[in-house]
Amino acid sequence: MRPLTTDHIRTAYLDFFASKSHKIIPGASLVPENDPTVLFTTAGMHPLVPYLLGEPHPKGKRLANVQLCVRTQDIDEVGDASHLTCFEMLGNWSLGDYFKEEAIAMSFEFLTKILEIPLSHLAVTCFEGDKDAPRDDESAEIWMKMGIPRERIGFLPKAKNWWGPAGKTGPCGPDTEMFYWIGKGEPTGNPATHDAEWMEIWNDVFMQYNKKEDGAFEPLVQRNVDTGMGLERVAKVLQGVETVYETDGFKPIVEVVEKKAEGRRQKTEDVRHIRIIADHIKAAVFMLADGVEPSNVDQGYVLRKIIRRAVRSAKKLSIQGSTVCSEIACVVIEQYEEPYPKLKNKESIVLSHLDREEGQFRKTLEEGLKHFVRLTEKMSSKIIDGQSAFHLYDTYGFPIELTRDMAHEQGLSLDEDGFIKAFEEHQEKSRAGAEKRFAGGLADHSAETTKLHTATHLLQAALRIVLGDHVYQKGSNVTAERLRFDFPHPDKMTPEQIKQVEDLVNKAIQDDLPVSFHVTTVEGAKKEGAIGVFDDRYASDVKVYVMGDDKKGVFSKEICGGPHVARTSMLGSFKIQKEESSSAGVRRIKAIVSGGPQEIVVAKLDMNIK
Ligand code: ALA
Repeated sequence: MRPLTTDHIRTAYLDFFASKSHKIIPGASLVPENDPTVLFTTAGMHPLVPYLLGEPHPKGKRLANVQLCVRTQDIDEVGDASHLTCFEMLGNWSLGDYFKEEAIAMSFEFLTKILEIPLSHLAVTCFEGDKDAPRDDESAEIWMKMGIPRERIGFLPKAKNWWGPAGKTGPCGPDTEMFYWIGKGEPTGNPATHDAEWMEIWNDVFMQYNKKEDGAFEPLVQRNVDTGMGLERVAKVLQGVETVYETDGFKPIVEVVEKKAEGRRQKTEDVRHIRIIADHIKAAVFMLADGVEPSNVDQGYVLRKIIRRAVRSAKKLSIQGSTVCSEIACVVIEQYEEPYPKLKNKESIVLSHLDREEGQFRKTLEEGLKHFVRLTEKMSSKIIDGQSAFHLYDTYGFPIELTRDMAHEQGLSLDEDGFIKAFEEHQEKSRAGAEKRFAGGLADHSAETTKLHTATHLLQAALRIVLGDHVYQKGSNVTAERLRFDFPHPDKMTPEQIKQVEDLVNKAIQDDLPVSFHVTTVEGAKKEGAIGVFDDRYASDVKVYVMGDDKKGVFSKEICGGPHVARTSMLGSFKIQKEESSSAGVRRIKAIVSGGPQEIVVAKLDMNIK
């Protein structure tokens, strides 16, 4: 096996797939663009959904990249040997190009020839088949042809060997997963017979179905391959260490935490807290670098939560200081600045947010402490009831572990069952909310959101006509009900200005402007006057959506991933519902469209423009 560093594995992967005619595309932001249904990018395929559904990708049919991902569903498991909030996914894609035979052959070659993982320590699983799709004997045959013995191939049901859709609807399909032996002694069986002793390292998904609203799986227009390999896990395998935290990528971060904890790492609990700090600060740094700010909603809330958890773990380890997070963040930035130059560019913003957030939380803890004292003074019994403990937790952000510790110090006990009950009742409520939010599917490309998305372009163009060229998209969020658009402008808009903007957009709708896109370089887009935020967020090639043409005049030209409606008349009519302040010097507009057709046609690639 080649004891490659994390940096080397990344490079080896991209080089390998480049040598197999794949175009290397940049990883996307952690915050999905134009997708209100998910908080974070959780897999390399997220930004590629339109292309998996059949739209041509500007770079072609074979792509590969490294995508930084955040998955929050396992956040409570972080600290064990394998769960991480934030990880890097190596991925290669075939957009209607190669399928099982070639995908498996390339995976096999990379694992055994490039990484030199011994065949004896590899096993795979395939889909066992059900009413929706047949048993995947084909993949098993290909694996055997490669040299994987039959006893190392397990067949598993949909719960294990099917990937996607990430939301309720969208591209998905059976997968074949690759595992490395982490059990004691000689490798035995396969993941279907010895689940705990085989660790998954790579997943090849054969995305040939589209899951529909009604639960049916219809064949996609093209058969795709979507793969994902966990970089940290592969590094663990190649470097022969017990956990991902001991790999070269994590080690310097873990070491600085250990140093701050003055060598406390004997107890399992201490080790867990050290790992939580390393994982969470790393995730926080990447979120902040992608523009997330701590808040009480959405991505900002997750960010706030992980920073607080890190501070809490630091307290548990008796780490002194009030800027612990930013000190550790410096090591994270140093560690990852080469593959992720944006970290260094955003360093001062990242560090100042961490300091502010940590300071605020430390104050919260002090406040909580006062309430705890007040609560215990009032108590007539020796038991802190669950509701009061939950109140401390929920209202003052006072962690239950602290309530428990302090109760014990004062010879009191805590009704933990009562706390859990109160906690679960609350969770039930927020889970219902989260599910509702997710129900729109991975990328919500419904007719309504597509219309509103197109209306957002028209709105931006109209605002620039009425208010001036200083207007640009500072933030945009589209749901099925309304669009929201934030832009810099010093003053409140007058009713006349609002009316003018509305009229301009409605005129563009009535003119039934054609909408199309073409693909060009960022430079080319700039030259032809397309609007967009010209920072490092775009891939080198971009899509430019044009609304209007030579005959009717071009009303809007904007860099965007799409999709959009094919003609503006499909929007029906446009109305601004609200114009308000979003923050200092930034205005916010909420607007709706109504009366357009229920079925829409989406804008296509303009074949005339080279
Ligand atoms: N999208 C697949 C995964 O995340 C490759 O496992």
